[in-house]
Amino acid sequence: MLTRRALVTRGTLTGAAIVFLWPSRADADTAPHRADADAESAKPVLALTKNIRVGGGRIIKNKYVITQPKKNVFRCFSAKCTHQGCTLASVSRGTINCPCHGSRFNISTGAVVQGPATRALPRKKIKVSGGKIRLA
Ligand code: FES
Repeated sequence: MLTRRALVTRGTLTGAAIVFLWPSRADADTAPHRADADAESAKPVLALTKNIRVGGGRIIKNKYVITQPKKNVFRCFSAKCTHQGCTLASVSRGTINCPCHGSRFNISTGAVVQGPATRALPRKKIKVSGGKIRLA
């Protein structure tokens, strides 16, 4: 037989368990935001900001070119030349350079500085956070 004291104790413990296990409304509202942040951080890091010098840039995995035309301003372009599709090879003196026929592109805009290419490099959206550069 249960005493009144035992019933009160069990009731209190059950209620406490429900309070701890049941998510609050505030938790439910913020859960999708946390999931978004996790998905964002799951995108691979293309480069660290400290490795892209001001006025220069780097070719990343023969697929992207990341540049820093001004301090803390980063750009990302396709590393495929718009002339005949060669992979861009270097970044120097303010331009991204193609080794095949000599086209050069502006590190800030991707615009053609010297042909034979006639079209700018396609720009890629990036996100810079915590010193890391990722595709947006
Ligand atoms: S493929 Fe780049 S200049 Fe021709």
